[in-house]
This record gives sequence, structure tokens and C-alpha cells, in this order.
Amino acid sequence: MKKYQVKVNTDKCAGCGLCSRVCVSHNLIISQGKAKIIMDKCIMCGQCSAVCPQKAISINGYGSGQIEKTDEVRLNPLDLLNAIRFRRSIRNFKKTEIPKEVIEQILEAGRFTHTAKNMQDVSYVVLIEKRDAVEKMAVKLFQSVKPIANLFIPMARNLKITDHFFFFNAPAVIVILAKDKTNGILAAQNMEFVAEANGLGVLYSGFFTVAANISHKIRTAICVPKGKKVAMTLVLGYPSVKYLRSTPHKELEVRYM
Ligand SMILES: Cc1cc2nc3c(=O)[nH]c(=O)nc-3n(C[C@H](O)[C@H](O)[C@H](O)COP(=O)(O)O)c2cc1C
Repeated sequence: MKKYQVKVNTDKCAGCGLCSRVCVSHNLIISQGKAKIIMDKCIMCGQCSAVCPQKAISINGYGSGQIEKTDEVRLNPLDLLNAIRFRRSIRNFKKTEIPKEVIEQILEAGRFTHTAKNMQDVSYVVLIEKRDAVEKMAVKLFQSVKPIANLFIPMARNLKITDHFFFFNAPAVIVILAKDKTNGILAAQNMEFVAEANGLGVLYSGFFTVAANISHKIRTAICVPKGKKVAMTLVLGYPSVKYLRSTPHKELEVRYM
């Protein structure tokens, strides 16, 4: 396992105590006017390092540096709400390829998504060349279990497991792997927003996610490491259908107490 270590540069530290205030592990105190780490173990959330005005705290062992925040980042609330209202699951795609920089930006949204206990356990498989071969395996699997599903699930009888049942001919698919499924799903949602902001349409393929998790063959083909499972599968491409309004939703059910 990688060794991460929080370090305080006492030459830079002004003893302001901000790091101690934000430390969820109560692992930082101010002693003799300087920040001091109590134990060499914490969840390495990095908030101490992100809050320090003196850049006196760093964490060893992470591959990438930190990004300086130059402006306040605040989205227009109504724009964001409308993005949520009008996003749709897309199942009709243009053939247009997705530029590599766009895929990378979507992956960056995943990388920066928070994880429980700061596990940072989420990784990704981008299916472009192997897309059809992997989809074929899932199609074969679903076709073999469909007769049984038909017996118990009335809606299954209407489903046709066609050659592109899972990925709808989309130009790219991102399979999200994680130890903790919730972490992967949170990443998926942020990735969807960034994809949409780039003009892409997204489909969450729950069906492929199930297929991959039950099939050793698929997991091997997409190199799922031991201890991880498929948390979600994002099917991505430029939509060839435009929606004109939001979809019907149930009334808000909420109780203020
Ligand atoms: C977790 C999850 C899994 C889903 N899996 C599939 C899927 O395998 N195939 C599919 O066609 N749609 C799938 N969907 C899309 C839902 O059917 C869709 O979100 C829902 O009908 C609402 O439509 P909208 O996304 O356009 O608002 C999935 C959605 C979610 C949230």
C-alpha cells in the first residue's frame, strides 16, 4: 500500500490554526505557535493543505499537484437546476467521435469527486476499440438468461436483446470501477454534468453494470482488479435527438420537522 504522509513546514507555518479547525481526524494541534501532527495516520483528506494560507502543509505520495484557486467558483443556481431538469438519458447518438480532451475532462471530474473516508478508490476503463467486443459478451449473457427473466419479470418479455442493447452505438463507454459502489456512482454523476456541459448525451447503463458484475469473462476482458466492482457504466456520445421539455415527475415528497 502507498504511504501517504502529512508534512508541516514549520518555517512557513504562521500558527493560525486553520488546519486544526478543518481537520476531521482531530490530528492537528497548534503547539508552541506551530501546527503539529499528532499521529502519522489520518484519512489524508488534504483539507489542512488546501486551507493553509502559507502553503505550509503538504501530503507526500499523491501523484498530482494541487490546483490554486484564483477566483471564487460559483455556478448560477438556476442554470444548474435547469441542467438537472433538462438532462435526459440519451439512447440515440451521432457517429461523431468524442475528442480525447473531452474524455479527459470527464475523467478529471471523476478523479476530483469526493469519496467516503477519502478512499480515492475509483478507476476507469474507457471502451472505444473494444466496445463492440465487450458489448457482444454482455449481449450473449443477457440472451442466455432472458428466458428465465421472462418467467418472473413481465417487462422483460418486451425487451429485445439486440446487438447494441447496452451501448446504443455510442462512440465511447466509460466503465467506472470502485471498491465502494457509492463512490463510483457519485463520480458518475459529476462526470455526467461535465459531459453534458460539453454537449454530450449520457446514458447510465445499469444493465451493462449488472452484466459485468456477474460475468467473470467480462470482468477479465475489461481488467477489473481484485477487490473492485463495476459501480456504473456511462455510455457517451453526441445526441441525435433533441428534447423539448422536461419529463413528468412525481410531486415533491418532503417533511420539514
Ligand atoms: C442507475 C441507473 C441505471 C440505468 N440503467 C439503464 C439501462 O441499463 N438501460 C437504459 O436504457 N436506461 C437506463 N437508465 C435510464 C433510466 O431508465 C432513466 O434515467 C429514467 O427512465 C428517467 O429518464 P431520464 O434519465 O431521461 O430522465 C438507468 C438510470 C439509472 C439512474
